[in-house]
Amino acid sequence: MKGIILIGFMGAGKTTVGKLLSEKTGMEHIDFDDKIVEEIGMTIQEYFDLHGEAAFRERETNVLKRYLDHNQVVSTGGGIVMRPENRELLKQMAPVVYLQTKPEVFIPRLKHDHTTVRPLVVSKSPEEIKQVFEPRIPLYEESASIVVDTDERTPEEIVHEILENI
Ligand code: S3P
Repeated sequence: MKGIILIGFMGAGKTTVGKLLSEKTGMEHIDFDDKIVEEIGMTIQEYFDLHGEAAFRERETNVLKRYLDHNQVVSTGGGIVMRPENRELLKQMAPVVYLQTKPEVFIPRLKHDHTTVRPLVVSKSPEEIKQVFEPRIPLYEESASIVVDTDERTPEEIVHEILENI
């Protein structure tokens, strides 16, 4: 089976669904944020503080290029679709699955996640988080070959739908 690449906003469940897909398919699971953290030797928050978002996006593009011919399950970072170059690369990487979610669902999830500090949402109000999210919606849609609505569904149901549709 060819690999599967997961895209979507922070808190959409890319890592949870990626791990479960990996279990079900036997394919290795790769998390781009983990790869970047390994390379930079610090947290993403520290990297943003020291080098800024543009430098992080450059790293993200480099990781994406390394996995063009992938046969793993890949969980991307929520901002992977920000650069036009990345969107073009993603289009060559089908199946790209957009895990769709709405602010009412992902904002409380982000607030309760104390394991990851996300520089673009930390200490932001729900309204400010929506302003990060909304311009990205068409970018996720443009980059995806499959769209899966994740709200009110279990990771098992989501994985089932992905495997039925790829
Ligand atoms: C980001 C999402 C994060 C991480 C970084 C930036 C974004 O990944 O890459 O904090 O711009 O959406 P997750 O989507 O895994 O939280």
